[in-house]
Amino acid sequence: MATKTTPKDRSNLVPFSSRLETGRALAEDVWSIFNAANLPADCINLGQGYMNFAPPKWVTEAAEEALNSVAANHYSHPKGRMRLRQAIKKVYGPQLNRDLDVESEILVTSGANEGQYSVFTAFLEPGDEVICFEPFFDQYLPSITFNGGNPVYVPLHPPANASGKFSSDEWKIDADELRRAITSRTKMIIVNTPHNPVGKVFTRKELETIAALAEEFNLLVMADEVYDCLVFDGKEHVRIATLPGMWDRTVTVGSAGKSFAATGWRVGWLIGPEYIIKPTLAATTRIVFCSNSPLQEAAAAGLEQVQERKFFEQQRAEYAERRTIIAKAFDDLGLPYTMPEGTYFVLLDISKVKFPEDYPFPKSVLGRGRDFRACWFIAIEIGVSSIPVSEFYCEEHANIGEVYGRFSFCKDVDTLHQAAERLQKLKQYIV
Ligand SMILES: Cc1ncc(COP(=O)(O)O)c(C=O)c1O
Repeated sequence: MATKTTPKDRSNLVPFSSRLETGRALAEDVWSIFNAANLPADCINLGQGYMNFAPPKWVTEAAEEALNSVAANHYSHPKGRMRLRQAIKKVYGPQLNRDLDVESEILVTSGANEGQYSVFTAFLEPGDEVICFEPFFDQYLPSITFNGGNPVYVPLHPPANASGKFSSDEWKIDADELRRAITSRTKMIIVNTPHNPVGKVFTRKELETIAALAEEFNLLVMADEVYDCLVFDGKEHVRIATLPGMWDRTVTVGSAGKSFAATGWRVGWLIGPEYIIKPTLAATTRIVFCSNSPLQEAAAAGLEQVQERKFFEQQRAEYAERRTIIAKAFDDLGLPYTMPEGTYFVLLDISKVKFPEDYPFPKSVLGRGRDFRACWFIAIEIGVSSIPVSEFYCEEHANIGEVYGRFSFCKDVDTLHQAAERLQKLKQYIV
């Protein structure tokens, strides 16, 4: 029998799992680099996508009430609190054209992220492939690889030679490229609409193309629709689960964080047929057991009242105003940018922003895409932070993302006006 001896160097006694490398989990991620703590104190944070305003008062009051009760301070059912499942049924049932079963078709999770992780745990066998459109929400990668899967990347294509403003709708999928990415190991496809960070709201036709491939190759569809209540200009948000036959193979993902300006609450949900929800419930029960109880009550109070308060309509109008402020700043600058049809992100083309190559960049941004240096330079010299978009691409396609910085407009209008004014200083660095 082999005996193991304890090494002399005690600083790293037991090696950690290689899955951390595969999942890019050890690399310093973009959120740590472009963190407020690393940037000047007065830098305006349009980087990470969280709000600088509170959730609605009638929702936080429900949270307080829950904290002051006894039951809501204890474990909930792993499926989620009944009040929240009922509220999800009330809001989502009509949109999915279904009388949702709160026992078997709805699962409350610890944020959308943990829900997605649980789906991967429930469905992936080692070596299974998951198709992600690029740019992709960066958590997908570790969530897939930690569960033994392999992400396969299919880029969305921006228009060639764009100048000035162009719609997020002009970022296109290439159906042949998508088909070519499918192999005998493909198990799942993630469709994020409205899309972070492009702001694209997939059209019915595009979703039909994806649905036809999912049907042909028997794929599970993860419909990441966490920005479903942020679609502008009357554009139709089509839920892929409502296309013919698609309910049977789709899990729809939602988030209280995005819906109620409460990203730190970590409350999300999954909706789908029983055969998807049941194994996912088994996985989530072993991962977190249940989601935090008081904030489930608050999210329930939120969803119960959105219709009578016309909350999502009002919130959408507020975000539309914020989008106008940031878009005008970019119009005035004269740099190309993507006007989002949904979400709270704008991609600015920063390829013409010139910075000195010997600028005192920190080590963390050197050796990364040009966009890391450009975004760092803008944060320090202009005082507005953003996120370099190559982070949301695999290495092979990083050059597509390197052109862009992602600016989040989930901030109050005063902050956005101030950011807009500062951004005009960028003119002197445009070549
Ligand atoms: C596309 C997308 N999916 C999922 C999530 C995760 O949402 P949550 O904060 O509810 O975990 C985010 C958060 O930024 C996101 O942008």
